[in-house]
Amino acid sequence: MNVLLTGATGTIGRAVLDQLLTAGHDVTCLTRADSALPAGVHRLKVDLTRPDALSPGALDGVEAVISCMASRSGTAADAWAVDHAAQLALLRAVEGAGVRTFVLLSAICVQKPLLEFQRAKLAFEAELQASDLRHAIVRPTAFFKSLSGQVARVQAGKPFLLFGDGRLTACKPISDRDLAAYIVGCLTDPTRDGVLPIGGPGPAIGQPPKFRSLPVGVMDAIIGALSLGGRVVPSLRAKAEFARIGRYYATESMLVWDGQRYDADATPEFGTDTLRDHYAALLRGDITTDLGDHAVF
Ligand SMILES: NC(=O)c1ccc[n+]([C@@H]2O[C@H](COP(=O)([O-])OP(=O)(O)OC[C@H]3O[C@@H](n4cnc5c(N)ncnc54)[C@H](OP(=O)(O)O)[C@@H]3O)[C@@H](O)[C@H]2O)c1
Repeated sequence: MNVLLTGATGTIGRAVLDQLLTAGHDVTCLTRADSALPAGVHRLKVDLTRPDALSPGALDGVEAVISCMASRSGTAADAWAVDHAAQLALLRAVEGAGVRTFVLLSAICVQKPLLEFQRAKLAFEAELQASDLRHAIVRPTAFFKSLSGQVARVQAGKPFLLFGDGRLTACKPISDRDLAAYIVGCLTDPTRDGVLPIGGPGPAIGQPPKFRSLPVGVMDAIIGALSLGGRVVPSLRAKAEFARIGRYYATESMLVWDGQRYDADATPEFGTDTLRDHYAALLRGDITTDLGDHAVF
């Protein structure tokens, strides 16, 4: 497809450009400056905040538009100038140019608009909805970058800051690449039209976290009963030992023991693979775990 992309120098726009090129689309990037673009990409240098910025015929041949441009500052004036007026100038230009599809990167927060930039975005969404173009209004949840602001301070040993008890907010973060793939998919997937809220993969197993605490005494009772039975039935002796092994791993840390306590700092570290990645691979089904015959949980 012959696609016009705005915001190609921004976080999501860059990722969308990658996906468009990978999918083999012919891409023209509308930029306001001479920023670097990958080889094979056409450029249309235009400042959409200026009146009549797009000359007649500038969009000839364009079949679809993906608009990822947005105010960089988020101030009220810039938001109305970019997220509303510049987007509207683009819409009016493409309406007369035979473009069939308009995909807009918006934000999920516009569903509860309390801020000026949200009102500006909503006002443009309404214009797009009122147009005759086939349109997809993609409203993503939080980007990874917006959730990574405290990594450096936590690495520096400072506490993670949260508001209230930390339960005031929740989200389903989505990666730039996943979001870009979703946006590019809007060009060809007829079910992706209208307003489309979208997040990244949800809780790992798709269920709310659930915990149950078992008293260690339960294991002691099992061990006691099996040990007693083992005096009469030999096969129960092995089971009693298995229960003792279970109790050990349920109650003892796997860290260096200094004679007084377990010491994480004194336990040497090696390698790069993390348990988190391992769990992710398990949940994706890429690998399986053979727990053997003695699996309990
Ligand atoms: N951060 C989040 O968690 C989050 C979550 C959901 C939705 N969103 C929404 O996602 C959207 C894009 O975010 P992003 O992080 O990719 O944005 P970004 O990195 O700030 O990029 C903004 C893009 O818009 C372009 N632009 C700005 N003003 C322009 C103008 N007057 N004419 C032409 N191009 C202009 C910029 O070009 P220059 O390089 O020339 O400045 C840049 O390419 C925003 O609408 C945001 O509200 C964000």
